[in-house]
Amino acid sequence: MKLWIPGPTEVRPELRQALAVPMIGHRSREMRALLERIDPLLRPAFGLSEGSLATPAVHSVSATGLMEAALRGAGRRRVLSLVNGAFSERFAQVAESLGREVRRIEAPWGEIVPPESVERVLAEEGPFDALTVVASETSTAAATPIAPLGEMLRPYPQTLLLVDLVSWIGGAAVDFEGAGIDFAFAGVQKALALPPGISVLAASPRYLERAREVKERGFALDPLRIVEGHVARKTPATPCIPLYFALERQLEEIGRAPGGWEGRFARHRRMQKLTLEWAEGHGLTSFPDPAQASPTVSCIRAGELDTARLVDGLAQEGFAISAGYGRLKGETFRIGHMGDHDEAGLTELLAAADGVLERIGG
Ligand SMILES: Cc1ncc(COP(=O)(O)O)c(C=O)c1O
Repeated sequence: MKLWIPGPTEVRPELRQALAVPMIGHRSREMRALLERIDPLLRPAFGLSEGSLATPAVHSVSATGLMEAALRGAGRRRVLSLVNGAFSERFAQVAESLGREVRRIEAPWGEIVPPESVERVLAEEGPFDALTVVASETSTAAATPIAPLGEMLRPYPQTLLLVDLVSWIGGAAVDFEGAGIDFAFAGVQKALALPPGISVLAASPRYLERAREVKERGFALDPLRIVEGHVARKTPATPCIPLYFALERQLEEIGRAPGGWEGRFARHRRMQKLTLEWAEGHGLTSFPDPAQASPTVSCIRAGELDTARLVDGLAQEGFAISAGYGRLKGETFRIGHMGDHDEAGLTELLAAADGVLERIGG
């Protein structure tokens, strides 16, 4: 089965082989050397310039764990959460589970939170320790521009910008410093096209300073312990070592592929265009406004189409796509065109989908 779901996505055989390494001790010289090699390779994924003072790191936890870690170091009081889908809602829930007072600004699923309302709430209801936002809402495919939020937060230096890059990183450019991000994180099973199990992050000096002032940050998800451990090339606990080898290989190969990171981002945009044009050809439309749609996943309104039959029909042909997420089940379906997928593979998937639609009358 070829995975065209919005993650986990297909993992290349070369990367699967990179997992099949003889085990090494996590306190060994080899492990320290591996972390040392990963560090510079990870920087372009976050758009970190050479002289950047931000620190990247890797942790053996899924992205939800780093959502929690990000919040643990940001302060213990109030959080402003932009909520426009299932994962941005999860970010807010994690903050509540830590006892933070959460002010949500909600947008209908498929839309993005209007910048004017963020500006108003910051001015009228602050101060907040942090603002949480999801760059690519995998549940709806809506993409929220991050740089304007960073700009808006300039007059509010006490409010840290925490960004979920889960279905964004590796599929589109990140400008960590230019966008004023303080903590960004992502799992690796989406546009980085690795198996799930580890996550990557970057933290600003300002974030780390704040985290040092916060007491009781926990242990396994203490962001300082994670970042300082990475800097010392010592993971806080036993990591998922094979995935670190695969991460090294993937980052290295992305960097030296023709076109490098930029080429990868352009390919994602082309796959998005192809997918939305295909949908249009069947009289179907993007759930989010295409101008605000994620380059890694498309969420398409089903209209009269029976999404379960489309998903099942494609599964019979060896392709997995996803039905709508949660409350959008039946109303939408999603195609994850991310990671190491390319236009040739996508063309095969869409041709198979044409066949299924013809059979089921879509
Ligand atoms: C945008 C976004 N954030 C967070 C998560 C949670 O990631 P995980 O299940 O790896 O913890 C997901 C998972 O799909 C996601 O798409």
